Amino acid sequence: MNKTVTIDFAQAATARASTPAHPQSLLDLPPGEARESLLAVHAILGASLPTSPLAIYEAGGGSTSFLPLDVLRRAHVTVVDIDAEQLRTNDYAHETILGDVQSHRFAPRSFDLVICYNVIEHLRDVEAALLRFCESVKQGGLILIGAPNPKSLSGVVTKYSPHWFHVWFYRHVRGDKKAGLPGQAPFPTFFHPLVTLSRLEAFAEAHGLQMIYRNEYESPRYPEMRARKPTFAALIDAAASVVNLLLPGKFDVRRGDYHVILRKI
Ligand SMILES: C[S@@+](CC[C@H](N)C(=O)[O-])C[C@H]1O[C@@H](n2cnc3c(N)ncnc32)[C@H](O)[C@@H]1O
Repeated sequence: MNKTVTIDFAQAATARASTPAHPQSLLDLPPGEARESLLAVHAILGASLPTSPLAIYEAGGGSTSFLPLDVLRRAHVTVVDIDAEQLRTNDYAHETILGDVQSHRFAPRSFDLVICYNVIEHLRDVEAALLRFCESVKQGGLILIGAPNPKSLSGVVTKYSPHWFHVWFYRHVRGDKKAGLPGQAPFPTFFHPLVTLSRLEAFAEAHGLQMIYRNEYESPRYPEMRARKPTFAALIDAAASVVNLLLPGKFDVRRGDYHVILRKI
């Protein structure tokens, strides 16, 4: 009897240990503001989404989801992506569609949640994409956007540097050997004006979307660089501190990314 109970506990402990609490995308983030903000996003999604089965649209979902695992587990996930290679390696979507998020249309009010993560900076027509998202989300549903901040140091450098430099950075600073190969990051960036938070906020207000979360946070590239290339990171940190001193206001130019959650009212 005792033995059976012991085995049950052991099995339960093993099951708990092998059931991850967070998606790999979150675990891959270095400790810091990016991870904290994503955890805050997860908490809001947990508190705001219905507890019933969900319909989720990942626009430009590629092969990685940043959604909490308990949300993914009760959802039917549809991914639209323009890159066949990204879709081929996607292992979490129930439906994958090779298409363009700027033009792909779903039946109105189809989804509880639309997520567009690390994508709008790559779009030539962000307004078209946002209009498609507004149309496809249910009343009371959410749109989660994760994007780089064009007004940050990394945003300005990314916007005004050539694509080969992005590939170089990914390969030699981030250590991503596959960077730039077909279907692999970094993807070409355009930085349409609507990627700027103030413009996105104005768009939301004009289109019946309430901004329930907005957070600019230090890009995870900084803690990554500090760990991998401390001398290079110290130089960038020093440059960022000088720019912070020269700029009016209290903005930290290291806040290279943001999360926004919009609710359709
Ligand atoms: C940086 S990846 C992000 C993928 C995933 N959301 C993530 O965070 O890991 C950008 C993705 O957007 C996709 N993409 C870029 N432009 C697109 C478009 N017009 N329509 C659909 N997908 C697009 C790319 O193929 C790529 O998978």
